[in-house]
Amino acid sequence: MNGARYRIEVMHGVNLDQLGRRDPLLYGTLTLAELQLRIEQDASELGLQTSFFQTNHEGAFVEHLHALGDRADAILINPGSWTHYAWAIRDALEIAALPALEIHLSDVQGREPWRRLSVIGELCFATISGRGPDGYRDALQRLREELERGRS
Ligand code: DQA
Repeated sequence: MNGARYRIEVMHGVNLDQLGRRDPLLYGTLTLAELQLRIEQDASELGLQTSFFQTNHEGAFVEHLHALGDRADAILINPGSWTHYAWAIRDALEIAALPALEIHLSDVQGREPWRRLSVIGELCFATISGRGPDGYRDALQRLREELERGRS
């Protein structure tokens, strides 16, 4: 199978629609729309298809995970601060039962202690954080490798 057939669901959670007005030292200067465009272009160069979802409502995030079914092959997930406490999102990710990679723009391990816990980390085959938008390109590459590995 060519990588072009892999479908990556890119999910951003709470407050990530505010990129561009959040602290640029932590999150950079791109808006979410600009970040998503960049992800889409990087994905296309890697032969991946992307779909995007963002919400500030935890239940909507959970229900989106429920509804993924076989509409995606893998998930690239940045839940924002839900990462650190939203166990319902952890359970919904488990229900989605797709390969998932956790990503953060900022270095969550190097910030406040409460950001060091990730409730989804154990369900993700890798975590990338602190690399800003560049981290997303690495994440797409890792997702592609993981999906190719899963096929062989
Ligand atoms: C974030 C890190 C979280 O701790 C924070 O609450 C966010 C963004 C990141 O991408 O760096 O909203 O997920």
